[in-house]
Parts: sequence; structure tokens; C-alpha cells
Amino acid sequence: MDVRRIRDDFPLLRKGGLVYMDSACQSLKPDVVIESMDRYNREFPACGGRSVHRLANRVSIEVDESREAISRLIGSPSPDSVVFTKNCTEAINTVAKGLGLRPGDRVLTTDIEHNSNHIPWLRLQEQGVGRAYSPTEDGILDLDSFQDALDPSVRLVSMVHTSNVTGTTLPAKEVVEIAHDNGSLVMLDGAQHVGHSPVDVAKLDVDLYTVSVQKMLGPTGLGVLYGKEEVLEGLEPLSVGGGTVGIADYDSVELLPPPERFEAGLLNYAAIIGAGSAAGYLEAIGLDVVREHETSLNRALRSRLAAIPEVSILGPEDASLRAGICSFNVDGLGSHDVAMILDETAGVLIRSGMHCCHPWFRSRGLAGCARASMHIYNDLEDVSRLADGVEDMVSTFCR
Ligand SMILES: Cc1ncc(COP(=O)(O)O)c(C=O)c1O
Repeated sequence: MDVRRIRDDFPLLRKGGLVYMDSACQSLKPDVVIESMDRYNREFPACGGRSVHRLANRVSIEVDESREAISRLIGSPSPDSVVFTKNCTEAINTVAKGLGLRPGDRVLTTDIEHNSNHIPWLRLQEQGVGRAYSPTEDGILDLDSFQDALDPSVRLVSMVHTSNVTGTTLPAKEVVEIAHDNGSLVMLDGAQHVGHSPVDVAKLDVDLYTVSVQKMLGPTGLGVLYGKEEVLEGLEPLSVGGGTVGIADYDSVELLPPPERFEAGLLNYAAIIGAGSAAGYLEAIGLDVVREHETSLNRALRSRLAAIPEVSILGPEDASLRAGICSFNVDGLGSHDVAMILDETAGVLIRSGMHCCHPWFRSRGLAGCARASMHIYNDLEDVSRLADGVEDMVSTFCR
């Protein structure tokens, strides 16, 4: 893979100067994504699925094509199983509010969930829906404890596929098999997985899967909820209204089948069309290639950071288990200080804080961490800039 050629596809990188390592928060977008959104706004800025004039028809066709592209990217058996949402958070909330969980039912997560896969269940506790946590060690799920935590009351296992803190990936196939043996549905939060590693929801046999398009080189403000046909059929939509209806009378309504049933109101057509371009761009590179590239960068970063005694890395030592994420702390410095110093002194942009995983950090007495997160457009020079920046920071502030 030619990283130099890939970097050329990203306007911010062509401009030069900055090292962008905050892709777990939001990835950069290549020209093809920006151009397809621009094309929608300039050439056919109409609404899809309603009007029948030529511009509207083009929107409908391009939305369908985008749905097919996302469907292929995640291995969905049908594009009808792909629902566009506002973001990954809304996809999870759709399930939390629509699954019809009752008092006495329980939801099982890991102990390292993003708030988006934590707060919706916390809220349901107020209605008597129970909650259990499966422990992780260094971000790795303990499968025995997971199995022990299951009983017939666990209606849903909802777990992060790849952690936004440690970068570790769940043994998804085993989790699904064990949960299904218990009669539980499984949802995986794929916000940090899709666009970085191959995923095949059909092979995994997972019931529900969520995606954050803004983290897979796509536009901001878009997510995806994948669901097996029979699971989506039984799910109550989060909102209803225009676009979701087959026919309505003053006192009755017949909702459309999925996915339209879940897509109320005019949609973010530019973003949906851009998402299709992002999926095509990633497919052309190959998700195996993306994963391998991120792993090799993470290995290089680990060997540089591990040589600095004041630095401790979160998660497993083996960088190949941490995807494109390297979270770390510097003795004596707060994580926000680390991020600001790196920006100011080295032009390296990373994230800091608790990364929306408050319970995990608080339960371990940690105030947060610095997180460098990489994608296909990062290279070894970026790794060196970050590591050099940390070395300089340590000699200035910590010695
Ligand atoms: C693991 C994980 N889940 C869910 C989310 C929420 O994604 P979105 O911003 O698309 O709602 C994030 C965002 O950082 C995440 O890292």
C-alpha cells in the first residue's frame, strides 16, 4: 500500500503541517467523500423517496446505492437490514427504547463501554430493567466470567466490538455463540471497528450492529443500525412520521417495513451519499490492508513510547491487540496537558480525558489518558513526530 498516495487524497494532509491522530473521535474525509456530498448539494439537492421528478429520483437511487455499499462493507445479507441513523448513539438508543425490554429483563455489557452503550441501559434501570457487567482485564473480555454472568433473564448482550480506550477487540464469534446458547440477543457497538478491520455481520450471526460513519472516513452526523430482518421487524422505531408510513388514516397507520420504518423525516442525504463513497474507498484499499497498516504503526509507536520510563500504556503490551489506538499517561502530567503540549510544541493532534468511558476510568482511580488513534492516512513519520514530542515534553516537564 502506498501511504503517500493515500495521504494525497486528504485535503488536510495535502496542506501539511499537522499530524492528525484523533481518528477514533472523528476521522478525516478523502476527496471522494467531500466531492460526492458537494455533488448532491450542487447538482441534485432534492429529497429521496417522495417526489418523482428527475432530481428526487437521483437522490433515491444514490441513497439505495449507498445502502448497498454499507451493506457490503459490513457483510449484511441484505441492504434492507441497514438503517441510517443520526449517529451510532442514536442506533443504540433505537434498540434500547424499541426492544420492549420489561422489568426483570437484564442487559449485559462489558465494564469498558462508551457512555453511548451505557447510559441508555442506565436509564432503563429506572423502569426495572436490570444490568450486569462482564469484566475485562487490560481491555480483554474474560469469557468465563461472561458465561457465568448469563442466565435466562439476560435478554440482550450489548458490547463494544473494539474499545475506544484500549483498542482491544472482542472475540465476537464466541460471544455471539455463547449468548445465543443462553437465548440472548447480541448487539455489538462497531463504532471503532468498522472502517479499521473487516467485519461480516452475517458470519458473526450477530443480531444487531451499530456503526459511526464519521469514524470510517465518512461524513459527520451519520450512523448505521444493522439488524437481522426478524429483529428489526420486532423493533419499535425511535420516531415515526413522514417517510415511515405505507398508508395512514385519521385513526390508524400502517408502517413501512424496515429500513424505511426507522428513517422518519427528511434524511441527511448528502451524508448518506458520502457514506457510500467512504465505504467504496475503504473497500478499494481492503480492510485487511487497513488493519495491517494500523497495527504496524501501533507496534512502532509502542516501541518508542515503551522506551520512555515516565510513560505508561493502557491495555495489552502487544500492540497488535490494540488496533490503531494507543492510550497512554505521562507521570506527573494530566492528559489534557499532554494533549495541549503536543499540539503546541509538535503540531500533533490527539485526544485526552475519559473518552466517554467515565465508569471504567473512575473505578480504576484514573483521571483519564492521552489517546493517539490512527487510520490509513497516518505514517511512520507521524509516529516519530508524536514520540519525539512526548520525549521532549518529558525532558522539559518531568525530569
Ligand atoms: C466505542 C464507541 N461507541 C459509540 C460511540 C458513539 O458514536 P457516535 O458519535 O457516532 O454516536 C463512540 C464515539 O466515540 C465510540 O468510540
